[in-house]
Amino acid sequence: MFKISFAIIPRTIGHGPIRLRRLSIADVAPFTRRFEKPPISEGRHPALLSYLLTWYWFKKNYPLAYCILLHGNIVGFIGVSAFVPKETGEISLVIFDEEMRHKGIGTTAFKLLKEDIRRRRLLKTLYAMVKQGNRSGMKFWKKMGFINPGQYREQAARKDRYPPSPRKQCPGTGETIRLVLRL
Ligand SMILES: CC(C)(COP(=O)(O)OP(=O)(O)OC[C@H]1O[C@@H](n2cnc3c(N)ncnc32)[C@H](O)[C@@H]1OP(=O)(O)O)[C@@H](O)C(=O)NCCC(=O)NCCS
Repeated sequence: MFKISFAIIPRTIGHGPIRLRRLSIADVAPFTRRFEKPPISEGRHPALLSYLLTWYWFKKNYPLAYCILLHGNIVGFIGVSAFVPKETGEISLVIFDEEMRHKGIGTTAFKLLKEDIRRRRLLKTLYAMVKQGNRSGMKFWKKMGFINPGQYREQAARKDRYPPSPRKQCPGTGETIRLVLRL
């Protein structure tokens, strides 16, 4: 299995008020509180085991995982899961507090990570999975340049460089739309 060496993942990305900092084990506690559904629910295991399992979960599922910092304070999370090296990955992005949303933070965070992925040639294609009805999510990813599978297929007909007929929806759910961005 491919593992991204820590040496090639920068500890921080960006220099302005909005920066990305690589997720560390110390972030597990604040993150677990911030996520609506924590990956490892508290109470099922002793606290320390729960903590370590959550950290393991993040490491296993998100080869790229960053806290989004605004003036040094954590305001969100951005990461890439389903990582197929040099090929595809699935982006996740959340700004935790509603009052911090729609202020341009998500845009800056995404652009920082995208540029880093491009520079390091880690991936060729990014996917974003958006639940049907998540209008702000859909509008956001489209503004970031993602296209939906319908448009993707149309472009595939015109340009050979696009792969043919990607699936329209996530398997099983029928409720999630996969958007695509070529890097
Ligand atoms: C989606 C999300 C990550 C966007 O981050 P953000 O920092 O709020 O986004 P930005 O301020 O950079 O907005 C960029 C664009 O996204 C769209 N957008 C963001 N929030 C929106 C909202 N509440 N309603 C409609 N459009 C919205 C707009 O097109 C906006 O451009 P504009 O300001 O010119 O109108 C954030 O709102 C969030 O965490 N939402 C909950 C989790 C989620 O849905 N994640 C995506 C899963 S697919």
